[in-house]
Amino acid sequence: MSTVSATPYASNATQTATVPFIPENAPFTAEQRAWLNVFLAVMYSSAQPAKAPEPLPSLKIAVLFASQSGNGEGLARKVAKELTAKGHIATISSLEGYTPASLAAERYAVIIASTYGEGDPPDAVEPFYNQLCMQHFPRLENLSYALLALGDSNYEHFCKFGRDLDEKLTALGGYRICERVECDVDLDEPFAHWKVSLLNAVTEIASKPSSRTKATGVSSASPAASASAKKTASHTRDNPYFAPIVEKRPLTHAVSSKLTLHMAVSIAGSEVSYEAGDACGVIPQNDPHLVDELLHKLKFSADFPVELPKAGGVSLRTALLDHLQVTRLNRRMIEAYAAIGQTTGHCGNLINLLQPEQQSHLDTYCYDRGLIDLLYEYPEVIHDPADLVAMLPKLTPRLYSISSSPAAHAGEIHTTVAVVRYKSHNRERGGVCSTMFADRTSDQSRLPIYIQPNKKFRLPQDTTKPVIMIGPGTGIAPFRAFLHERRAVAATGKNWLFFGDRSAKTDFLYRDELESMQKDKFLTRLDLAFSRDQEHKVYVQDRMLEQAPMFWSWLQDGASVYVCGDASRMAKDVDATLHTIAERQGGMPAEAAADFVQNLKDQNRYHRDVY
Ligand SMILES: Cc1cc2nc3c(=O)[nH]c(=O)nc-3n(C[C@H](O)[C@H](O)[C@H](O)COP(=O)(O)OP(=O)(O)OC[C@H]3O[C@@H](n4cnc5c(N)ncnc54)[C@H](O)[C@@H]3O)c2cc1C
Ligand SMILES: NC(=O)c1ccc[n+]([C@@H]2O[C@H](COP(=O)([O-])OP(=O)(O)OC[C@H]3O[C@@H](n4cnc5c(N)ncnc54)[C@H](OP(=O)(O)O)[C@@H]3O)[C@@H](O)[C@H]2O)c1
Ligand SMILES: Cc1cc2nc3c(=O)[nH]c(=O)nc-3n(C[C@H](O)[C@H](O)[C@H](O)COP(=O)(O)O)c2cc1C
Repeated sequence: MSTVSATPYASNATQTATVPFIPENAPFTAEQRAWLNVFLAVMYSSAQPAKAPEPLPSLKIAVLFASQSGNGEGLARKVAKELTAKGHIATISSLEGYTPASLAAERYAVIIASTYGEGDPPDAVEPFYNQLCMQHFPRLENLSYALLALGDSNYEHFCKFGRDLDEKLTALGGYRICERVECDVDLDEPFAHWKVSLLNAVTEIASKPSSRTKATGVSSASPAASASAKKTASHTRDNPYFAPIVEKRPLTHAVSSKLTLHMAVSIAGSEVSYEAGDACGVIPQNDPHLVDELLHKLKFSADFPVELPKAGGVSLRTALLDHLQVTRLNRRMIEAYAAIGQTTGHCGNLINLLQPEQQSHLDTYCYDRGLIDLLYEYPEVIHDPADLVAMLPKLTPRLYSISSSPAAHAGEIHTTVAVVRYKSHNRERGGVCSTMFADRTSDQSRLPIYIQPNKKFRLPQDTTKPVIMIGPGTGIAPFRAFLHERRAVAATGKNWLFFGDRSAKTDFLYRDELESMQKDKFLTRLDLAFSRDQEHKVYVQDRMLEQAPMFWSWLQDGASVYVCGDASRMAKDVDATLHTIAERQGGMPAEAAADFVQNLKDQNRYHRDVY
């Protein structure tokens, strides 16, 4: 190899040096030689002491998030921090209460959007999106943006809101500075990948003079946004608090068709704090019996060392127990398994199942099977533990609405947990976290927890205002917290609770407490709907309709409405009933009733915590 003066590549023209180069007689084509010479020159130039680069001009970038349970908000904060560290002026804000006009006024925006419902925005972001979809909306020609979509591929409409929003922004004239990335429950890797593209794109824009001039008009973040950005949680999903269990008791009767538990942990002496309405995140552990069965079936040693992205080197058993999701299946897992199986020829049917026209069969296959079924039905596919680890999604924390009040239950967090158990394909199965509570914890155990704030689900600040709470099943949880909180702070506003479950005899959760609060008139009204105590089903929304005149009069008195529990059916039916009450009692046509409900939301008087 020869050397040549490399002035053209040196960052400082006064510094000349020699770099290796490929001579013409070397056994390469001209094209290969040219490529290698450039490669060597670039390598060399980056190794030279370089003059400190000119700082790039800073851009004002709005970091916006559409988030419900906090993932998007957390990532938005990380992005804002990195942009700030790179010298840009990043303001952070939720899309809740944000207007399309504000977006049109931005020059650069970074948007993180999660999906809920049936491919919808998070509840609180619906007004923003609805406005954005209205016809006369100002164009977004001035806006350059990047979008990260959050979702969960176990849902039918994976990342749909992120996709829709991205398409809408482009349709309105917005310019996408880097490709949208869609994150499944394993957020870290796609987020990191997207962040690299984003930061590269921002650097490129900042280095172009034309963009520089447009990037003026710097304003600082709103005081509220800055204050909340500063507030950092002491314990997070990556750094949970190990809270000792102080109480665990069934709330359902032994003969009930289901088990719902009251779980209390101590946070005394810790930095953990919460407000009524928040949720508690729990880091679960898989069932060791299932993990051992998987290891046995695969003939893998429990101690086999494996590498995980965050945890680093751990034993295979630890990886399966604490870090990876082994109970459920999804398309990606089946694809990975089939890809490995293709080489061994053991996955014929599985490959058919992955054809696009077989989607409904794939859904049926995945619905009530887990990894263990795959190993039995298509054996001898995985021979390398690393392949297994690579195909499994990360085990994610589970959230539980807190059912205690910091004012009434100082030093404790209570949760109300429905234990998920079912039988399918000749196997008794259970939800990872809820069966961990039920079967694998005692009052000697400590639970790794953190607080997931839910700022959208707060009691009215004016304690004289009435509240209407609708929470069947475990939906009662935050309302028990609200009631205790209101009593502890001597709130004088009226309280109305709609509760429902399967049967009064076996499933009347917190019966004694509620009846006692009703007796002493603190709980102004308690309306109950026990669905299986008569021939036809009776649900909370039936009770709402029965009491429609009074419900309406409470609304006229300024009551706030809260709904918690099942998102798939209950929350939708309750929402429809609220519209019906407005139509019937307010004498409004459907459109006006929809405006009435929207107004409640705009006034922060209609809140939902549904899952
Ligand atoms: C904001 C929020 C608040 C919440 N609050 C509460 C609360 O207060 N109380 C509470 O109990 N839960 C609450 N949840 C739900 C909770 O987080 C967990 O999702 C729930 O406990 C199940 O977790 P798991 O690990 O036990 O089950 P997982 O291991 O997650 O398994 C549940 C999955 O099993 C499958 N499954 C369940 N039943 C069947 C069946 N019959 N056939 C086939 N497949 C089935 C489904 O895919 C289901 O999604 C809340 C969720 C959110 C997002
Ligand atoms: N697999 C299990 O064994 C099991 C057991 C408990 C809970 N879970 C799961 O755990 C979660 C929470 O359970 P949970 O105890 O909170 O509630 P839940 O048991 O799902 O339901 C609570 C009450 O709500 C009723 N309900 C059903 N559909 C409704 C609707 N459209 N509108 C209003 N009310 C409706 C139920 O009636 P009906 O059920 O009589 O229709 C029941 O009376 C749910 O997702 C549930 O699927 C699973
Ligand atoms: C009740 C509920 C409904 C959801 N619906 C969808 C969905 O339809 N499509 C999807 O891709 N993800 C869905 N998800 C997954 C969330 O989008 C995902 O967990 C995301 O990381 C949440 O982000 P956030 O914490 O910022 O709200 C749903 C999650 C919950 C709890």
